[in-house]
Amino acid sequence: MKAQRERWGSRIGIILAVAGSAIGLGNFLRFPGLACQNGGGAFMIPYFISFLLLGIPLCWMEWTMGRYGGKLSHGSLPGIFDAIVQRPWAKYAGVLGLFVPLVIFFYYTYIESWCLAYSVFSLAGTHAGVTDPAAMKTALSDFQGLTGGRHMGTAYAFFLVTFAVNLIVIYRGLARGIEFLCKIAVPVLVIGGVLLVVRIFTTAAPVTGHPEWNINNALGFMWNPEFGALKDPNVWMAAAGQIFFTLSVGLGAIMTYASYLREKDDVALSSLTACSMNEVAEVVIGGSIVIPAAFMFFGPAGAKQMSQSIFDLGFVTMPCIFSRIPWGEVFGFYWFFMLFLAGITSSISLMQPVVSFLEDEFGFNRRKAATALGIVCFIVSHACIFGLGAGVLDEFDFWGGTMAITLCALAEVVVFVFWFGINRGWKELHSGADVRLPGPLKYVFYITPFYLGGIVLYWAVFSWIPWILKPCGIELEITLVASPPFIHAVAAAGAVNPVILYARVTLLLFLLALLALIHVAWQRKRSAPASA
Ligand code: PHE
Repeated sequence: MKAQRERWGSRIGIILAVAGSAIGLGNFLRFPGLACQNGGGAFMIPYFISFLLLGIPLCWMEWTMGRYGGKLSHGSLPGIFDAIVQRPWAKYAGVLGLFVPLVIFFYYTYIESWCLAYSVFSLAGTHAGVTDPAAMKTALSDFQGLTGGRHMGTAYAFFLVTFAVNLIVIYRGLARGIEFLCKIAVPVLVIGGVLLVVRIFTTAAPVTGHPEWNINNALGFMWNPEFGALKDPNVWMAAAGQIFFTLSVGLGAIMTYASYLREKDDVALSSLTACSMNEVAEVVIGGSIVIPAAFMFFGPAGAKQMSQSIFDLGFVTMPCIFSRIPWGEVFGFYWFFMLFLAGITSSISLMQPVVSFLEDEFGFNRRKAATALGIVCFIVSHACIFGLGAGVLDEFDFWGGTMAITLCALAEVVVFVFWFGINRGWKELHSGADVRLPGPLKYVFYITPFYLGGIVLYWAVFSWIPWILKPCGIELEITLVASPPFIHAVAAAGAVNPVILYARVTLLLFLLALLALIHVAWQRKRSAPASA
């Protein structure tokens, strides 16, 4: 007999768990960096359009299909696609819902562990005297083992701790692990963020000789719209990418969370609440910390340059600032520990889809599922840790966090629109709902597939193909031009990067292994039909 599926302990529990998944490093580092580079306040226009046309509809689709799948004892994409589409290929298309979260997990936990390490360094005053960005950057590279591996042991130890904490949370289960952690961590990180914003907003121009580097001008620097940026399609693409990443949609993680709802639990209002919490954390809190602070301490030219690298913003700019202010150790600790909490509530949501797959489709119990997954994740993560300098982390981010996530989102939209059906979906969204959404909103579901399809096409041509060819020794530059055929390509010979090619083979084998697993799971079900 099938074991009873787990359930959330409370409504606020699942809302905070979804918000915890959404609120992550993307809110505090990626968003401000992107906004600053892509037109400041003007970036908010494509950002909100993507939020309305992609973000919200995908959230509703994931919550709705997730709760529906849960009723049929499926919590991951292969099972949910299989139940909805009812064709043999559908479960294999769902492989993306296992592949994407795991590939992101392989590198995300490592970055998360840097946050934990730097929170300890802040309290210990490790970088107390370092106020110059170049010196701080060297300290970061040392820590990451990029300069002869001097401190790699420290980074590795923090990775082990971070990994263990993730695993313990997953091991404890839905209500006692994920929900328990998110109920504490999400409020704490929001309060930590607000404190930092207050600290920045009440700081007088800190650099002598530059009274104009004050908070008013800093906010102006961040938010003054450069409307010219809207003519650049890349700005629109950056906004769409950020919406996926920040809301944690398009990879089935939210779907898995929703599969543990009860049949009559609300999804319409809960999903909107979680989304809104993420947007406040991103636009209001995330937008008010790193870039304004960088402006006040390093001026417009410094801030602009620092915004180019989101890791430098977090791990170089901010520690330099903390070294210059009174109580910097404490604020530094707040900052990095807040990032760590934001990270861990996101990374646990990346493991859950696979745990759910092993439980629902293989009949594993939770402990067995968590152990098996832990072993695989532990082994593969090492590629990102030791291949950081060779670009393996970026490569994993490209395949998992950029390309496969968009294709997975497209698969979800196609299954929802063509197989689940928009009318049925709208009805399912409202079953048990605590709000009635305005009817015309339903038509957004008709726009989403086209908007997303266009984005996938654009990305495939202008960014994915050049990225894929680069380590093979072909430098291809494809640009959009005003006259037909609208595409201009220039190719040049480049260097072959064997490490990256190995990384790709690893990812491919991993994908094949997951496909085989899906195959075996259904084979087993066929030979041993579930007894009632
Ligand atoms: N939403 C997270 C962030 O903003 C990243 C993430 C993406 C987490 C996908 C889980 C799943 O950092």
